[in-house]
Amino acid sequence: MHLYYLASVALAAQALAAPSPKSDNSSALEQWLYNSQLDDHGLSLLDRSDIVGFQALYSWKSLEPAENDYDFSNIRDDYEKVLAKGKKFWVQLQDRSFNASVDPVPKYLKTPYYNNGSAPACDGTACDTNFTITGWVAQQWNPRVRHRYQSLLSALAEEFDGKITGINLPETSISVTEGTNNYTDESYFLGELDNAGYAAHAFKKSYAVQYVNFWPDGWNNTNNRFTDSFNFYAKHGVGVGGPDLIPNKPGQEQNSYVYIPMYHDEVPITVVAFQEPDLKEINNKTGNPFTKEELVDFAVNELHVRIVFWTVQAPWLQSS
Ligand SMILES: *[C@@H]1O[C@H](CO)[C@@H](O)[C@H](O)[C@H]1NC(C)=O
Ligand SMILES: *[C@@H]1O[C@H](CO)[C@@H](O)[C@H](O)[C@H]1NC(C)=O
Ligand SMILES: *[C@@H]1O[C@H](CO)[C@@H](O)[C@H](O)[C@H]1NC(C)=O
Ligand SMILES: *[C@@H]1O[C@H](CO)[C@@H](O)[C@H](O)[C@H]1NC(C)=O
Ligand SMILES: *[C@@H]1O[C@H](CO)[C@@H](O)[C@H](O)[C@H]1NC(C)=O
Ligand SMILES: *[C@@H]1O[C@H](CO)[C@@H](O)[C@H](O)[C@H]1NC(C)=O
Ligand SMILES: *[C@@H]1O[C@H](CO)[C@@H](O)[C@H](O)[C@H]1NC(C)=O
Repeated sequence: MHLYYLASVALAAQALAAPSPKSDNSSALEQWLYNSQLDDHGLSLLDRSDIVGFQALYSWKSLEPAENDYDFSNIRDDYEKVLAKGKKFWVQLQDRSFNASVDPVPKYLKTPYYNNGSAPACDGTACDTNFTITGWVAQQWNPRVRHRYQSLLSALAEEFDGKITGINLPETSISVTEGTNNYTDESYFLGELDNAGYAAHAFKKSYAVQYVNFWPDGWNNTNNRFTDSFNFYAKHGVGVGGPDLIPNKPGQEQNSYVYIPMYHDEVPITVVAFQEPDLKEINNKTGNPFTKEELVDFAVNELHVRIVFWTVQAPWLQSS
């Protein structure tokens, strides 16, 4: 369930982005930008001296126009532009969408052999009782689809390992109807772990990070989903993060916000994003939107993350 929010390494290279001393918690925090694409606004924000780098999104479909025929030109161009600014680059590989008209998987998967590659997904708090299609997710529980996805990860690593600072797989929260398209919560969970471990194995120098917010059958660590997944990430050198920086939000506090700080020293890196929907969140203590200071304080002192990926729409970025 993509609750409360509606859009949404491994082997950390010694040479890369050397961590600041862990005791120095506030200055260790790196401020990055996040946007679905690198545009002129984002590029100009990179001129700010307080910004370390840029994270952009690429859909599976855009990177593999035909089977085994990869097109990484967009990543390559964006990487060059960001590097030319003296900044670092990070890729989010998108295998799901939050828009019913957008299917994130390549066309060649649209055959019975791959069971069409994706499945309809519902987003929000009412999916259990009222399943409405609000997006699509790659069938990572289907071994044939997962195999193709992992081939993409290998191809990406071949070109970008050690160049980009990191790559992350998108949030684990989904709602797919059990029993359709062979989906089960268990097979989804195992498929996601398999991909994360594969990414960390393929990327030996750049960080590989899994965004973990909710698991479909894992509320408050039901079925040990959080402890099992975080132990897996620790064992396989997968960094962890989340799509939503929302201080003290009850749903998050009962789920990933427990484990992100707990595993801080067990995984290669921990990060969090402050994405567009988070702009609407209100600090219940003040009745106002969270200030930058409140967000940074929570990221540093509660979540203990090393990077915040800020949407380019964050108010504090609009003033120089
Ligand atoms: C570092 O974190 C500790 C607790 O985690 C906190 O007490 C301290 O104020 C923080 N230091 C800075 C500089 O933020
Ligand atoms: C969903 O995707 C369609 C097709 O790309 C686009 O026209 C539409 O604006 C998107 N809707 C939202 C809410 O982003
Ligand atoms: C796959 O897509 C085709 C064409 O849209 C459709 O007829 C078929 O029912 C789909 N199969 C599944 C399993 O969804
Ligand atoms: C189910 O959700 C859809 C889309 O959000 C909404 O239009 C519809 O009214 C809902 N139906 C019920 C019975 O709640
Ligand atoms: C569903 O799973 C069964 C058992 O693993 C397999 O034989 C079948 O091909 C799968 N069907 C689809 C559509 O993936
Ligand atoms: C979460 O689970 C723990 C252990 O099973 C339980 O003690 C606690 O009350 C639960 N918390 C909530 C908010 O449901
Ligand atoms: C603020 O309170 C409302 C109502 O209890 C709750 O739904 C919401 O999640 C809270 N927001 C945060 C950020 O804690």
